[in-house]
Amino acid sequence: MSIRTVACIGAGYVGGPTMAVMAERCPDLEFVVADRDESRVRAWQAGTPPIYEPGLEEILRVALRRNLQFTTDVVSAVRQGQIIFVSVNTPTKTFGEGAGMAADLQHWEACARAIRAFADGPRIVVEKSTVPVRTAEAMDRILNDGPGPRKFEVLSNPEFLAEGTAIQDLLEPDRVLIGGPDTAQGREAVEQLVSIYARWVPRDRILTMSVWSAELAKLTANAFLAQRISSINSIAELCEATGARIGEVARAIGLDRRIGPRFLEAGIGFGGSCFRKDLLNLAYLCRVAGLDEVAEYWTAVVRMNERQQTRFVAGMLRRMFNTLADKRIALFGFAFKPDTGDTRDSPAIAIARALLAERARLAITDPRALENARRELADVTDRIEFWADPYAAARGAHAIAVLTAWREYRDLDWSELYRHMERPAFVFDGRNVLDVDALHEIGFNVVPIGAPARIHGGDPAAHLALT
Ligand code: UDX
Ligand code: ADP
Repeated sequence: MSIRTVACIGAGYVGGPTMAVMAERCPDLEFVVADRDESRVRAWQAGTPPIYEPGLEEILRVALRRNLQFTTDVVSAVRQGQIIFVSVNTPTKTFGEGAGMAADLQHWEACARAIRAFADGPRIVVEKSTVPVRTAEAMDRILNDGPGPRKFEVLSNPEFLAEGTAIQDLLEPDRVLIGGPDTAQGREAVEQLVSIYARWVPRDRILTMSVWSAELAKLTANAFLAQRISSINSIAELCEATGARIGEVARAIGLDRRIGPRFLEAGIGFGGSCFRKDLLNLAYLCRVAGLDEVAEYWTAVVRMNERQQTRFVAGMLRRMFNTLADKRIALFGFAFKPDTGDTRDSPAIAIARALLAERARLAITDPRALENARRELADVTDRIEFWADPYAAARGAHAIAVLTAWREYRDLDWSELYRHMERPAFVFDGRNVLDVDALHEIGFNVVPIGAPARIHGGDPAAHLALT
């Protein structure tokens, strides 16, 4: 089969940018992206995507209407696409068996059924969403059930893009994984998908393997990355208890080439739609396989992450004279990381809720994520203000807590912020992005992560001297 049209179901953080880059790189192919959410489709089709991703609009400008279109018509996308990517959301289940751990595959299965019902010839179906190992097998069974020749080959092509750098990650991926069945038809399907990526990715970076290995490699990559963050955060805690500096420790270990310097930034923990979900999926798989100790090992990474948020709030409480009741606290940043408006699983959510439980009043600011923040906290908004302008959020506040490492926070006029705050004024730098000494000089009490706090008159929660 010679491929002319590629379809994708799901135009979210993964499907949208992935198809945009593919279309831009493959002018000889047609791309149709279907999503049931009409307002999302309208935004994509207008060239103003519903998600913020640096560089995305430029790519869309090239591809839209040339060889890329967005539609709500899933049926027509299924009819047109010879290769169909499935890129729908797979959140953690909130009900029934495996609740809180396993992935909720209802959107995924709905797609499989739509493809089965409406595809009028053979199709290559590509699993792109993060899904638990063996989902492709289930998909294969739904699609190919019944007598007659196999019409569908199901491949796994896991996504490694990180939000904020998605376009770069797609244009120059470290590697592309394609898992497929080891049959003549399966190998042919894999080759078709390889040939698409090979238009811009060097062949030696395109790895082919079994479907299960590809699925598990994706979960493992995210579990390893998340584990690094929990590891460095655990050491940050030890630094605080003993007076060492996490920045110095991270730099020292990062120079060991076996360890490497990236993903060693201590802070209030990881968020985002992948890490927690994938760790829990992995642990769930281990449990189902009877590997309780292995499950426990990976679950500890999640627990260590949750601890960063409770620890952060406990530190605020201790420094602020053991009461936050009715104090205004400005939260700088709500996105789970900079350069995105995404707040899924953002550590800011747990922190905001814990502060509200202490009866604090919150003023939340974020350059891109205010709308999502409002949605995440919709049930508790009576004690929250939302401000686009950080200076307005900080006005009259007792403390500023930096929760997202937006570059612009470093460049704010901190003297000006200080002037309009209550005294004593605190800054809790949950992402270690600020100049602690400079802020202390201005008059702030400054509390970073994993390093000594600078408190005027001495830190009541200073580390225990070990000697
Ligand atoms: C991640 C993976 O990186 C990507 O390959 C996968 O496809 C999807 O999941 P993403 O969730 O977009 O991507 O963001 P990432 O850059 O990995 O950061 C995740 C979280 O970890 C953020 O909340 C970030 O603030 C935090 N983080 C990251 C740290 O706390 N410290 C670090 O050193 C690095
Ligand atoms: P991800 O981060 O995995 O891309 P998102 O939630 O950003 O997740 O995007 C998933 C998209 O899939 C959403 O826009 C949602 O509307 C769409 N979607 C989910 N189920 C279906 C379905 N059955 N048919 C069409 N689109 C769907």
